[in-house]
Amino acid sequence: MDEPIGKMEAHNKVPRGFLVLFFGLIAFGVYYIAAYTPGISGWSQYKALSKEMEAEKASAAAGAAKMTGNPYERDEKAVAEGQGIYAEKCAECHRKDLKGADGPSLLAHLKFGEQDPEKYESIANGRPGGMPAFGTELGRERIWKVLAYVDSVREYGKKP
Ligand code: HEC
Repeated sequence: MDEPIGKMEAHNKVPRGFLVLFFGLIAFGVYYIAAYTPGISGWSQYKALSKEMEAEKASAAAGAAKMTGNPYERDEKAVAEGQGIYAEKCAECHRKDLKGADGPSLLAHLKFGEQDPEKYESIANGRPGGMPAFGTELGRERIWKVLAYVDSVREYGKKP
């Protein structure tokens, strides 16, 4: 009961674990403030945001390219299937070797456009000078496949 004050204090040492936690938190707080202070670390909300927006733009562009490009380009199985479709539906006008008869050559310049979406359009919706629309008859997948075949001859040197 009548111990001197100093000795009583000695019984109540601060536990080591608490000290570690305490200074740890202070250190973290200092680090955190520094990391998110533009003047110190260069971090900025706007930089973070514009980075995010750029990533989003890039993935949107990739998605758009996927939607308009031929998903079967250079896919051998699809090209073989497309060759069958071509023989059945297209050869009578464009000839078996694609060089044209009633319809124009598919190996020469295509006046309605040589990009995938334009060629797709020619086949799906037809063209006024006598190209029938195959959209409902073939459907999206088979149009891309027949086009993959045509392009394999046009662009990749496959024998018709
Ligand atoms: C009844 C005959 C006929 C059939 C069948 C036909 N085409 Fe055509 N095709 C044409 C004619 C004619 C044109 C030219 C149209 C024009 O100039 O307006 C054409 C145009 C095209 C074009 C655009 C050429 C260009 O210069 O831009 C493509 C591509 C095409 N055909 C692919 C096909 C494919 C693939 C098939 C089979 C699914 C097919 N055609 C079946 C007659 C035909």
